[in-house]
Amino acid sequence: MDYAATGQEALSRIAEASDLETLEALRVEFLGKQGSISGLLKTLGKLDPEERKVEGPKIHSLRENVSDALTSRKDVLETAVLNARLAAETIDLSLPAPEAPRGTVHPISQVMDEIAEIFADLGFSVATGPEIEDDWHNFTALNMPESHPARAMHDTFYFPDRDAKNREMLLRTHTSPVQMRTMLAQGAPLRIIAPGRVYRSDSDATHTPMFHQVEGLVIDKDVHLGHLKWTLETFLKAFFEREDIVLRLRPSYFPFTEPSVEADIGFTLIDGKRVIGGDPSKGEGGWMEVLGSGMVNRRVIEFAGLDPDEWQGFAFGIGIDRLAMLKYGMDDLRAFFDGDVRWLSHYGFSALDVPTLSGGVGTPA
Ligand code: DAH
Repeated sequence: MDYAATGQEALSRIAEASDLETLEALRVEFLGKQGSISGLLKTLGKLDPEERKVEGPKIHSLRENVSDALTSRKDVLETAVLNARLAAETIDLSLPAPEAPRGTVHPISQVMDEIAEIFADLGFSVATGPEIEDDWHNFTALNMPESHPARAMHDTFYFPDRDAKNREMLLRTHTSPVQMRTMLAQGAPLRIIAPGRVYRSDSDATHTPMFHQVEGLVIDKDVHLGHLKWTLETFLKAFFEREDIVLRLRPSYFPFTEPSVEADIGFTLIDGKRVIGGDPSKGEGGWMEVLGSGMVNRRVIEFAGLDPDEWQGFAFGIGIDRLAMLKYGMDDLRAFFDGDVRWLSHYGFSALDVPTLSGGVGTPA
């Protein structure tokens, strides 16, 4: 049989298809399950082997020609659609600017600025470190040797290759490596905070693979747990702008601090909503964990090349996202990173709303 006419007709109809829907209808008509060319292919099974040898290649090449024509016509039509869209969406840059500026400062950025402002007032400076870290700074020097079980708890993202010093490379799982970097670079005494992004392979309503922490580190002489507690209390009162913040320190364990404590703050229930402040032991409410902290482990001070008999200190690590949610009443962590303009314009801050202690660090825009 000769399929030239069938092929001719199919190709000319494809060439004439003026939009993607028409083209898709043609694809179904020729090559779909019930399509005419698919039908021809099915007849091959019923032919005897000699006939099949003759007919088979013809039908297959018909199918191939039609399929190629469909693909190239599709490319042409898609390009046309894209060009039309690009032409329609041109922005006239000579138009006047919108009356109200649209951008807002992300609540995380705002909260980081608030935290920096409060700690600056207490004599802390801001330190930074790389987000792509090596396992020595992220783990080993923080008293987590290779076999340490705490390493497994961090759900670390590792890179396939090691660095020039043959150290494993990873995305930092916490801001604590900045402690070590700063001690090594600046020695003691020291008073720093280190806000920034951290990464863990974890994702649900309360965990995102990237989140934010702020690390705090004080290294000096004769530093004790009382200094830590005062600093945390002073910070939290300033941050939440309430005098009635009640702090509860619970014994805990972190390899890089000894002793280690976790801090909870009290909340009360008002109309069923959690409001930070008040003493839960005196009424309705409860405790919310907000940070980990402790006295810097002697071994960490040694790793930093300092003499632990001369220098002591305390450290803390706070989850920024959680703190922002508590302060500004957001309930889904994932919304922070969706980039939804409506959410951002609702929860975002004006660029002019620079947090200052005198102006109130927490005054919403
Ligand atoms: N790095 C810890 C974490 O991510 C938090 C932390 C706990 C930091 C205690 C500290 C600290 O500096 O002293 O879970």
